[in-house]
Amino acid sequence: MLKNTPDSYGLIARLFHWIIFLMIIGVIIGGNIAADMPNGPGKAEMIGMHKSFGFAILVLVVLRLLWRLVNPLPYDLGTNRIENKLGHAMHVFLYILLLTQPAIGILMSQSFGHPVYPFDLFKVPTFVSDNIRLGKILLEIHETLWVVLATSVAVHAAAALKHHFIEKNRTLMRMIQGK
Ligand code: HEM
Ligand code: HEM
Repeated sequence: MLKNTPDSYGLIARLFHWIIFLMIIGVIIGGNIAADMPNGPGKAEMIGMHKSFGFAILVLVVLRLLWRLVNPLPYDLGTNRIENKLGHAMHVFLYILLLTQPAIGILMSQSFGHPVYPFDLFKVPTFVSDNIRLGKILLEIHETLWVVLATSVAVHAAAALKHHFIEKNRTLMRMIQGK
């Protein structure tokens, strides 16, 4: 099934979830490696890849949210209303982080005077002109938000594993197999 059913996530929602998951792991590892590299062509290439994949995440998250709008979610499987509400609040928070982190990355690069060319295909419109002071603030936010994102993902994944191994319900399987 491509679309969600009242009972489960459809193939498209599952592909969005797991592809974005892999890409997030990649940009977090790649971003940290790039930041620790000495200045030079190697670092520039790593940061270029990081920016391209980070931009692709932003596009995929927007498409994912549009798909979510036209595609009702399956019903909740939590054991009580508070648990369901907490789960939804975490999902909203994750979506906010998935949008703000790449957006800040783009604005940060532009403030430092580095245009963004995802995969060398086109230039992302310039939203801010050179402004080193702003760039430094955005860099600090970018360096903080990924830790918030990684921590939130760890809590989110732990909740999914608790559903699977302790409560033994289908929460995790319906995001993996859709059944
Ligand atoms: C969800 C998407 C993204 C995540 C999770 C992410 C994560 C990270 C991480 C973990 C670092 C290393 C930070 C550190 O040293 O503490 C980093 C650095 C960086 N990111 Fe991102 N990033 C994302 C998207 C973007 C985008 C879209 C751009 C620009 C188009 C961007 C531009 C940069 C730059 C330029 C650096 C290097 C900063 C430096 O020189 O140290 N990022 N990012
Ligand atoms: C970068 C990592 C991740 C991000 C950003 C992320 C984000 C999300 C978001 C936003 C949703 C809500 C989907 C929606 O309602 O539209 C969701 C659902 C879900 N995620 Fe993740 N996720 C990540 C990693 C993981 C991991 C590692 C696991 C499993 C160990 C997992 C298991 C699940 C499950 C089971 C659901 C469905 C929850 C439900 O039906 O209430 N996620 N995820």
